[in-house]
Amino acid sequence: MGFTSQWLAERVPLGGLDLSELTNEPVPNHLKRWWFCLGGTPAYLFVVQIVTGILLAFYYQASPETAYESVRYITQDATFGWYLRSLHKWGATLMIAAVILHQMRVYFTAAYRRPRELNWMIGMCLLMCTLLTGFTGYSLVFEQLSYWGATVAANLSDQVPVVGDVAKHFLLGGDTYNRLTLPRFYILHAAVLPTTIVLLLVIHITFLRLHGVTELKLDDTPPGGDDHFNFFPDHLLTEVIIGLVLMILLSVLATVLPAMMGPKANPLVTPEEIKPEWFFYVSFRWLKLFSLSVAVLSTGFIIAAMFLWPWIDAGLRKITRNEDISVYVGIVATGLLIGLTVWEAIAPH
Ligand code: HEM
Repeated sequence: MGFTSQWLAERVPLGGLDLSELTNEPVPNHLKRWWFCLGGTPAYLFVVQIVTGILLAFYYQASPETAYESVRYITQDATFGWYLRSLHKWGATLMIAAVILHQMRVYFTAAYRRPRELNWMIGMCLLMCTLLTGFTGYSLVFEQLSYWGATVAANLSDQVPVVGDVAKHFLLGGDTYNRLTLPRFYILHAAVLPTTIVLLLVIHITFLRLHGVTELKLDDTPPGGDDHFNFFPDHLLTEVIIGLVLMILLSVLATVLPAMMGPKANPLVTPEEIKPEWFFYVSFRWLKLFSLSVAVLSTGFIIAAMFLWPWIDAGLRKITRNEDISVYVGIVATGLLIGLTVWEAIAPH
């Protein structure tokens, strides 16, 4: 052992073998398929968001007078500013897409069933926080659409019975969009929500380690062979490869389709068409289909049902005596999600 490695080994008495023992957990063979490891993808992208977000924060200034100009400076003048901003924007898109796909994988393999109900609920909190982070980030640019999107969202929360008014005041720091609003969105976006996500992730992964991933009986065990493999280093290597592929994909997207500047927010001029980010298209189309109060109440009902789904599913299975009932519900829900999103994307208004 050389001097340096001995010096290090004495101070950090942790070798490869100890590390493998600490982290190792036998992982079922089906995790060799990438779509069963989709949970690692948002975790990886979250780290990208933290790093690029911190770098953007060196230049971003959250006030109605300075926000737009600071984003313009990042996009057009700062060295590689356009690249960082584009990575952050595409990272957000891919992270949200990955969370949705991970949730679908968990749903369609019924991995939320007993005893993993609580982890499903933690996952739902992660979904809500991820969507809220996306929404507050969109509002920070202080473009027309950011401004009016935030105004519409605040008016919608006003419709929620009992807590709506408080939620609207909390979000805007007043009755309408005012000087306090943008700093509020910023502190939610850059501090409160990321910290909450980290805490939720710690609980999510702890639960995962306590239960292990769901054992699915797929035909991937060689006769007489082991139906598990090592987390460290085998599974970790798969995750590293997924991470590298994502980094290349992100970089290509950021270069080919970089983030642009829209027109600056003008509180006096309502744009002809208000569009949220793509991940809210489904809720926006839903709003247009029903009256305001019906749409808001039914959205609340759907979110509550999603939180409680493991128990609703257990009840439905008992009543229908059909173990696959969740698959049918899932197909209808996915059809609606895709249908309404595409409808909103292509409809002129
Ligand atoms: C930031 C968001 C999230 C991250 C980083 C994350 C991370 C992970 C990871 C790494 C796993 C291990 C298995 C796999 O990779 O599929 C996992 C499993 C799981 N996740 Fe998530 N997750 C997130 C959001 C969600 C959401 C939105 C839900 C559902 C509402 C959810 C529910 C679950 C459940 C129930 C498991 C256990 C699956 C099993 O036993 O096979 N997670 N999560």
